[in-house]
Amino acid sequence: MSKEHEKTLILIKPDGVQRGLVGDILSRFEHKGLKVIALRMLQVTKDMAENHYGEHKEKPFFGGLIEFITAAPIVAIVVEGNNAISVIRKMVGATNPQDAAPGTIRHDFGMHMGRNLIHASDSTTSAEKEIGLFFETNQIIDWKKDVDYWVYE
Ligand code: RTP
Ligand code: MG
Repeated sequence: MSKEHEKTLILIKPDGVQRGLVGDILSRFEHKGLKVIALRMLQVTKDMAENHYGEHKEKPFFGGLIEFITAAPIVAIVVEGNNAISVIRKMVGATNPQDAAPGTIRHDFGMHMGRNLIHASDSTTSAEKEIGLFFETNQIIDWKKDVDYWVYE
């Protein structure tokens, strides 16, 4: 894969799984032309959650965030594509679904800050750390997506 292609971590949070939105959310990334290179369902442990959201440890919402993300299974996905990190953050939308632009996942499916359906890495540094938290190296599949010829010039 060419050097400018980034990898990023997406989590479909417990509300997305419980509401039966895994297929709808995943299909947005597939339809965009991004490549899924790893995917698993799991229940996040408290340790993993506290590590993943470590930057928010001192925030008043931290306890509720950890309780929510560990409450039921999630789907973790690694996606690859040109500028994938910023492209996907735009598709995800603002943190509060009530502020998110129409057409974004959080706007189209969500109603509340604490039930915003999806996580996506916000930088190359966090993507690298977060992918390592959810996947072993051998679970990331380096495959050739033939249709990329028709996605990228
Ligand atoms: P995420 O990490 O889940 O992708 O969300 P994000 O980057 O858009 O937002 P971030 O600032 O990293 O916040 C992480 C999650 O914490 C909850 N939150 N609640 N009550 C509040 O003020 C507040 N602020 C953030 C949200 O569920 C957010 O996704
Ligand atoms: Mg964040």
